[in-house]
Amino acid sequence: MFFWRILKPIVFLMDPERAHYFSMRLFSIALSIPLISWILKRSFICEHHSLERVVDGMHFRNPVGLAAGFDKDGRWLPLLQELGFGFIEVGTVTPRPQSGNPKPRLFRLIKDRSVINRMGFNNEGVDALVSRLKAFQNEKKLIIGGNIGKNKDTPNERAAEDYLYCFRALFDHVDYFTINVSSPNTAGLRALQEKEPLIRLLQTIQDDNHARPRSKPVYLKLAPDLDPEALSDVLEAVRATRIQGLVLTNTTIRRPAELKETRWVGESGGLSGKAVQPFSDEMLGWARQADPNITLMGAGGISSPKDALRKIELGADLVQVYSGMIFEGPWIIRSIKEGLVQRES
Ligand SMILES: Cc1cc2nc3c(=O)[nH]c(=O)nc-3n(C[C@H](O)[C@H](O)[C@H](O)COP(=O)(O)O)c2cc1C
Repeated sequence: MFFWRILKPIVFLMDPERAHYFSMRLFSIALSIPLISWILKRSFICEHHSLERVVDGMHFRNPVGLAAGFDKDGRWLPLLQELGFGFIEVGTVTPRPQSGNPKPRLFRLIKDRSVINRMGFNNEGVDALVSRLKAFQNEKKLIIGGNIGKNKDTPNERAAEDYLYCFRALFDHVDYFTINVSSPNTAGLRALQEKEPLIRLLQTIQDDNHARPRSKPVYLKLAPDLDPEALSDVLEAVRATRIQGLVLTNTTIRRPAELKETRWVGESGGLSGKAVQPFSDEMLGWARQADPNITLMGAGGISSPKDALRKIELGADLVQVYSGMIFEGPWIIRSIKEGLVQRES
């Protein structure tokens, strides 16, 4: 925590996207210096048997994961595994590399502890991710999720081919899959959340999945902007295609009137962090009420143990963090786990 107090004001002076790369490089240098590495690694530790979970046949050391988008290309897995996550979702990855939207495309709403991004699935392509996953020494037995999407220039009618390509390429290298149809930064993508195209897409994946000797869990990641009726259609698609569950939620395209940081509020893109929390929590609650059996991963606005506990009480089996890491620093993972242990004991 002490490191973060010194580092945060410096990092926050930088452009947010540069700050992301700078922080990871700095962390990498710090871990290469033995004494600092020893101190840092110890500072992230919080292990307790009550944190362990078995979900859809996967054994999680703890239920706190890193949400998709932070390490799209699996570039930092060796560093991120030191932070104490139970799982990391890499991606969103697409079949071919793509550069994403023009910069600037990431904005901090500091007063709102929120972020607007319109990255647009910038990634090095699925083959680059596969190479990194092959080389990764998973010393901490992390569960790795593969979040998959489609290239920007692939029309929705052919989207299933892109998802299937990524699914097949990653199959032997990840523990579960998340189908991302909810990013607001790829034109038309969210139309794939509608019942008919969704069933076609999920069925394409599941046909391939179930033809294998051992299938892998598949989840669907949704936007927090669906109404209960649209969610009910999605739940029908989940049941019809027998996927394991949902990741709730991605970023929102809404701009709540309470936002204080007026400077960036007009930027297009998805809003995450504190501002998305009420929408994400509401959807999580609806989904759990509608279906007591499917797996639910809760994401959106977690920046304290209380936030994570609320999602678990609403019905999340696992939780994921992204924006909270930006504002609270990486020690947030340890404090969330400590909060969960306290609740259990
Ligand atoms: C900069 C940025 C990039 C993101 N990229 C992706 C992505 O590639 N795929 C995805 O499924 N979600 C992506 N997300 C959404 C997060 O995974 C998460 O669902 C969302 O931010 C809500 O969680 P949070 O409030 O903890 O950030 C991104 C979020 C941010 C802030």
